[in-house]
Amino acid sequence: MTSEDKSQPAQGRVLIFDTTLRDGEQSPGVALGTTEKLEIARALEKMRVDFIEAGFPASSPGDFESVTAIAGLARAVPGDVDACWDAVKHAEHPRIHVFLSASDIHILHQLEKDREQVLEMARAQVARAAKHCSDVEFSPMDATRSEPEYVFRMLTECIEAGATTVNIPDTVGYAIPEEFAEFIRQIQEKVPNIHKAVISVHCHNDLGLAVGNSLAAVRAGARQVETCVNGIGERAGNASLEEVVMAIKTRSDFFDLTTNVDTTQIHRTSRLVSQLTGMSVQPNKAIVGANAFRHQSGIHQHGITKLRETYEIIDARDIGLSRGGMIVLNKNSGRHGLKSRLDELGYEITSDEMDRVFVAFKDLADKKGEIDDRDLDALVSEERRTVEDVYKLDLLQVSCGNQLIPTATVRIIGPEGKIAETTSTGTGPVDASYRAINGLIGVPNQLVEYTVNSVTEGIDAQGEVTVRIEAADRTFVGRAADTDIVVASAKALLNALNRLLAHLPREHQEVWANP
Ligand code: KIV
Ligand code: ZN
Repeated sequence: MTSEDKSQPAQGRVLIFDTTLRDGEQSPGVALGTTEKLEIARALEKMRVDFIEAGFPASSPGDFESVTAIAGLARAVPGDVDACWDAVKHAEHPRIHVFLSASDIHILHQLEKDREQVLEMARAQVARAAKHCSDVEFSPMDATRSEPEYVFRMLTECIEAGATTVNIPDTVGYAIPEEFAEFIRQIQEKVPNIHKAVISVHCHNDLGLAVGNSLAAVRAGARQVETCVNGIGERAGNASLEEVVMAIKTRSDFFDLTTNVDTTQIHRTSRLVSQLTGMSVQPNKAIVGANAFRHQSGIHQHGITKLRETYEIIDARDIGLSRGGMIVLNKNSGRHGLKSRLDELGYEITSDEMDRVFVAFKDLADKKGEIDDRDLDALVSEERRTVEDVYKLDLLQVSCGNQLIPTATVRIIGPEGKIAETTSTGTGPVDASYRAINGLIGVPNQLVEYTVNSVTEGIDAQGEVTVRIEAADRTFVGRAADTDIVVASAKALLNALNRLLAHLPREHQEVWANP
């Protein structure tokens, strides 16, 4: 990063403030561990977003010390603001992001206060944040359902108190692009000190308009957009990073603006976020969906072979997809070749991890011959996930078929190397395995989602299984990949159960039903 003032965009630049690790993590069912958060933060940094909102301050501040531009979120109360500063103060460019509701519906029914009290809270906590840090963002939550005059007053006072960015959240995804753009224009007219702050927008997708609203706001003068990779986030999600960035790039003739994002990192970061959060990307999703660069109709295919631009507005290489030229490794590839490909893909692998990844790579190459980048992504995540799991699959043997009762024998290794084994029957091999695993672990839970996707093309491809289980009013995601989808299924359930167990009080974490 340069020594430029990070809170002020250069002329013609739109800042990208990524909140995948905060609002994105608020997606139902998503819970990221520290290593996973750090891995995503590294990918976001490599992609050159301007700010990474790393979450609420209580979460391990030290882990992010080496990430340069970090924002922490704080409610407008002194304890939150101070804790937030503690969490971000070691970053090269720290930012405190204070938020407080501005709509009457929130003020009266949630905060149970009046407008004047709320105004005073906002002013006082922005001033407190500004004493800690020169870069302070303020968000009047639910701004688009608030009385505009009240929002203007709140922004004026918060800028006066030291806010250097004012963020306009469409918290419940209620705005319509034209109307939102007009609101941003009015802010520039009616807030007398607005020239001292950058206008930011934070749009939710409840009506499918998060990206449209963000771009309309940019046209009207906003110079920071808050985004999440793959558009994940609370409820229907946030404005998708890749859509906002690629719209500004692809239609630079219209916007006459740029971002600092290295778009060639988009594909990889999207895959990483999807893998670590367990939130699949729909095939027809703009920019990063599996179909985004596929052509089905004969007429289109014909056009593309003559000139790519006939039916494509984006070059797939611009988002990091290599068309027809993906580097492929095989069982003859050595440790060095594997390491340099992983380096090129942006993985920072310790030598211990490399030992395990190399063994898994050889094993996979033996089974399926050619290994491409998508296999490597799945393989590295698999290795990292398994290390954190306390209960691991040691053996799985199934018998099934149209004339057999599906039966599974499962052996699990738990804490201190304890081993337990059992056999169950079920409606199919996955059901039998799940009954056996649940019988061994013995923590009541309900399977609410099970999906299997192929990592690459071909009958020998790895299957990537994602499961969601519910227990004690929470959802836990589990994921695993293997060339055998029954093995992947068993590992995915164990991964979810490991996450569930990590949330239980210590004394309940060792839970063998029949050790
Ligand atoms: O949606 C919202 O209003 C938020 C704020 C904290 C900015 O996430
Ligand atoms: Zn939000």
